[in-house]
Amino acid sequence: MRLIALASGKGGVGRTTMAANLGIALSGLGKSTIIVDASLTTPDLALLFKLEKSVYTINDALAGEISFSEVLYTGPKGVRIAPAAVSLDQIRGAHPEYLAGLLRTVPEETDFIIIDAPSGLRRETIAALRAAREVLLVTVPDMVSVSDCMKTRLIAEFLGLSPIGMALNRVRKEEFEIDSKEIETILNVSVLAEIPEDEGVNRALNRGVPLMVTEPKSPAAKAIRDLARKLIKTKSKEPKT
Ligand SMILES: Nc1ncnc2c1ncn2[C@@H]1O[C@H](COP(=O)(O)OP(=O)(O)OP(=O)(O)O)[C@@H](O)[C@H]1O
Ligand SMILES: [Mg+2]
Repeated sequence: MRLIALASGKGGVGRTTMAANLGIALSGLGKSTIIVDASLTTPDLALLFKLEKSVYTINDALAGEISFSEVLYTGPKGVRIAPAAVSLDQIRGAHPEYLAGLLRTVPEETDFIIIDAPSGLRRETIAALRAAREVLLVTVPDMVSVSDCMKTRLIAEFLGLSPIGMALNRVRKEEFEIDSKEIETILNVSVLAEIPEDEGVNRALNRGVPLMVTEPKSPAAKAIRDLARKLIKTKSKEPKT
C-alpha cells in the first residue's frame, strides 16, 4: 500500500484539486484508492465531491468516535473519499495525530492512500506527514511557493518520508515562471508532472464535480492522469527509520 501526502509550504497551490483528480485517475486505472482530507482547518475536499453535508467525517474518526471505514464515501470511478467536516464546531474535538493510527486500520489490499496535507508547518501538517510514507510536493512556478516548498521538503525528510517528486501546477510557460529544471536544482527533486493552467478546473469546481469527470480530455486532466501512471510505475519506498 502506498501512502502519499500531497504537501506544499504555501497554501492555494492546488493540492486539493490534485488530490481529488489524482485519486479518480488512479482509481480509473484500476488501483484501489482512498483520498483523505487531512486539511482540517481548510477542508475543501468535501466541496469538490459535493460531500459537504456528509453525516460522518474524518473529524469524527479523529475524535475517536467512529472507525475510519465509516468515514469513506464512494466517488467517481470507485475512488473512496474521507472528507473533513466543513463546520468549524467539528474541528475542535479532532486529534490530527490520530491520523497515522487510523490509516493503519485500512485493509492492505488498498493500493493508494492520497493524503491532502495542510499547507504550512502546523500541528495538523506534521500529523498528516507523519501518517504518510512518501511525499509528493506541489508548487506553482513562482519563487515564493518554491521557497516555501523547500521547508516542507526538509521537514518531510526529517520525518523520514521519501520525496517521490514534485508536481508543478498552473504552468503557463510564461517567461517569468521558474521552469522545471531550475526547480529540480533548487529543491533537489524530480519534477514528475507539469499541470497546465486550465480554466476547466474552476468550471468543474463550480459544478461540484471534479475535472477528471467533467473534462477528462482537458490539458490538466491529461497531465494528472500521466502523473497517476508514473506513480503506479514508481516503486513504493520504505521510509527511513
Ligand atoms: N491547474 C489549474 N488551473 C487553473 N486553476 C487551478 C489549477 N489548479 C488549481 N486551480 C485553482 O486554484 C485554486 C486553489 O486550488 P486548491 O484549493 O486545490 O489549492 P490548495 O493548495 O488545496 O489550497 P489550500 O491551501 O487553501 O488548501 C482553486 O480555485 C482551484 O480551482
Ligand atoms: Mg486545499
